[in-house]
Amino acid sequence: MNHDTAHLKQLALDHLWMAYQPPVPYAAEGGPPVIVAAEGTWMVDSDGKRYLDGVSALEACIAGHIRPELADVAYRQMQQLEFLDVFRYASPPAIELAARLAAITPGSLSRVHYTPGGSEAVETAIKMAKQYHALKLGDTSRYKVITREGAYHGCTFGAMAVDGEYFGTRIHLYDPLPPFGRLSPAPYHYRCRHCAGEQGCSLACVDDVEQVILAEGPETVAAIIMDPCATASAVAVPPDGYMQRIRQLCDRYGILFIVDEIITGFGRTGKMFASEHWGIQPDIMTVSKGLSSGYIPIGAAIASEEVADVFKGHPHGTLSHGQTYGGHPVACAVALANIDLIEREDLPGQAAAKGAQLMNGLNSLSHHASFGEVRGMGLLIGLEFVHDQATRKLPEDPRLAGYRLRTICRDLGLITLTLHPGNVLFLAPPLTIEPEEVDEMVDIVDRALSIYEENYL
Ligand SMILES: Cc1ncc(COP(=O)(O)O)c(C=O)c1O
Repeated sequence: MNHDTAHLKQLALDHLWMAYQPPVPYAAEGGPPVIVAAEGTWMVDSDGKRYLDGVSALEACIAGHIRPELADVAYRQMQQLEFLDVFRYASPPAIELAARLAAITPGSLSRVHYTPGGSEAVETAIKMAKQYHALKLGDTSRYKVITREGAYHGCTFGAMAVDGEYFGTRIHLYDPLPPFGRLSPAPYHYRCRHCAGEQGCSLACVDDVEQVILAEGPETVAAIIMDPCATASAVAVPPDGYMQRIRQLCDRYGILFIVDEIITGFGRTGKMFASEHWGIQPDIMTVSKGLSSGYIPIGAAIASEEVADVFKGHPHGTLSHGQTYGGHPVACAVALANIDLIEREDLPGQAAAKGAQLMNGLNSLSHHASFGEVRGMGLLIGLEFVHDQATRKLPEDPRLAGYRLRTICRDLGLITLTLHPGNVLFLAPPLTIEPEEVDEMVDIVDRALSIYEENYL
């Protein structure tokens, strides 16, 4: 297929209001890169240039690009029942997917509320948690939700209230945010104020979370929300013991634990859900992205039986919440087929094996002057690059440094992201990536760091 790249880019500059992108860099480049096709781990732009997809297209496409079996399911479902009133009627795919999610998620998670995407799943979980306490207590005194510095849980107002950090204009121009979010530190060992530089983590960061609970008053806290691998907080994967102790804190103070597995769910970390690494059971789990491998928008908030029981038979037990496209039958049918695929091809096992290969490969780049640390779990990996290896000094402008490094990677044929504060290169490729492609990715990062250091260090 031929594409008039210049024309498309100009149309994009004139009419496409893209997410999170300041208009200037794209204007300088003549418009955003235009992607026209994909296959496996690869994406192709409108000039025919091929890129390794180092981030599964926003961490969603875990099963690899263009799997005919997922497209076929969508086509068949559209010919059978394309849509229905999802508030008053249920479709077979929605029912079967809910039962399947109940079966594969940890512990007694068993009540599924569908959403069109991740932010709405977070909104749902927060509303469930607040209503749960209100029904139990008869008032709304437990309304606060504790999150972590640097966290990202979405872009809608409720989700923004539990986003850990706001960049530039976001903080002021959208104020006031809903007033229930409270910050606590992330388990960021490399820069931890308690134990950076020491071999192991002291878990003092859990005490920090407890201090926030006590300072706020436990009787005012509805929930703690965490992405288990703290992806947006520079991939600050917690040490063993951290999540278990957060679970204990929640139990001690009667707080619900919302585990946001929107990035980590469905195999990415080497297990079906990251919660399984620590044997914890969330009270509510949020999922999206890998649920459909990016083939179609869908998300869900999944509550435990114990949480759902409080709503049952209560005069105010109606969840006053729902969206037209929550539980779309086509999306549910694709998600069901996707879960079949994840299990059939053992994508969690693939993530564990290839994650170890990628981690080893990236660690072999430690001779680079800008190499800081590689950390992650399965195929969810961050490479922190620094101005000075010995002192761990940040680049002068971390966001600009991140933009530069990921642009170099892109020019060399690798699509990546950089994470807050900017100097963490994020790699989360499809779990179906071939071992040779993992090596190719490492080779590109190696060359990219050399170019970055020659020009900017
Ligand atoms: C952990 C986490 N939660 C929530 C969201 C929001 O999901 P969505 O972009 O589908 O609204 C994201 C998106 O990146 C995420 O990474």
